Amino acid sequence: MSRGWENWSASDVEQFQEAFLEWYQQEKRNLPWRYNQDPYRIWISEIMLQQTRVDTVIDYFYRFMEQFPTIQALAEAPEDKLLKVWEGLGYYSRARNLQAAAKQIMEEFGGKFPKTVEEIRSLKGIGPYTAGAISSIAFEIPEPAIDGNVMRVVSRLFCIEADIAKASSRTFFDEAMRKIISQKQPGDFNQAMMDLGSSICTPTNPQCEICPIQQFCQAYREDRQTDFPVKSKKQKPKDVYYVAGIIENKEQEIFLQQRPETGLLANMWLFPLEEVSVERFSELQEQYDPKSWDLFSSSQIAEDSPDFFSAQNIIWQKKVLGEVKHVFSHLRWHILVFYGRSAAPLTLKGHWVKTNEFSGYVFPKPQQKMLEVFENYLSDDKD
Ligand code: ADE
Repeated sequence: MSRGWENWSASDVEQFQEAFLEWYQQEKRNLPWRYNQDPYRIWISEIMLQQTRVDTVIDYFYRFMEQFPTIQALAEAPEDKLLKVWEGLGYYSRARNLQAAAKQIMEEFGGKFPKTVEEIRSLKGIGPYTAGAISSIAFEIPEPAIDGNVMRVVSRLFCIEADIAKASSRTFFDEAMRKIISQKQPGDFNQAMMDLGSSICTPTNPQCEICPIQQFCQAYREDRQTDFPVKSKKQKPKDVYYVAGIIENKEQEIFLQQRPETGLLANMWLFPLEEVSVERFSELQEQYDPKSWDLFSSSQIAEDSPDFFSAQNIIWQKKVLGEVKHVFSHLRWHILVFYGRSAAPLTLKGHWVKTNEFSGYVFPKPQQKMLEVFENYLSDDKD
């Protein structure tokens, strides 16, 4: 593997930094976590930005800061309030880790955000990328912050052939970044990398004509920009099939269940879900006519229905409202959404909730999508 950065002289590095930082000074985006160097704000923004686009993060960031303006407020927040602010952002373990780290800061660092890379790295949920971002932006420590965008820029700059999907390739990017990062303005340097990666040095059709570091870029010189980064295909998410029941009682309340305390979507609320095989899913898909209610006797229901529509729960009417898909990083959920009326209390564990009280419950994205299907159904002309 060639290490093009080793051939750069001190003056090459200096010229590169000058051109790059000047561009950043002129072009940097005006973002709310860039107003000052408060490590708390920078930490929260970096965690939010890990899997979410800047445009989406901005509103969440303001709301988060309003609700939890200090590390102490975050450490002491009730979990449901925290998840409510995070609702819709996904990857909820990020929010839980934030709170665990806030408690750590209160206990181990006297409530003050730690100032060394090692200490920052010791906080729950903070890996090398986030530690690099916080220490450079908040404390001006020349530590690289290497994410997918930065790997793309750097792989082009030096024609690095290492597979960015492999953890072992990190050392190349780390070495290259340590050679070129500005010692005086590491925070600006890292953020210039992020901005360049998201605006000019994009995955397809990079805008090399207007790139501030074009003259330093080996891939540009060799006209190989789109050969980089090298990335092996990641595994496809696994398909999982569910039926969901939007079940209503005589008081027009709907049944909600809370997820277990650990695992995917921990502690969040959803309509009851039951996993089924792909064959059963297709059968159910074909069996039910979305346009009509099916009327069943309880013995019939017991035979061909998911558990929560079974005889013991005495459902007397049901229909399919639609299908919802949701992709997590490793799973793809397919959900067939049923609407049923229950004549007797359900034996499942959960709450009966009026729809106007839903806002008091934390709903993850797949639940929001199911709710949308339900709301569309309710607002449709049913004649
Ligand atoms: N993406 C990740 N961190 C960022 C930051 N500080 N500014 C803009 N985009 C980012």
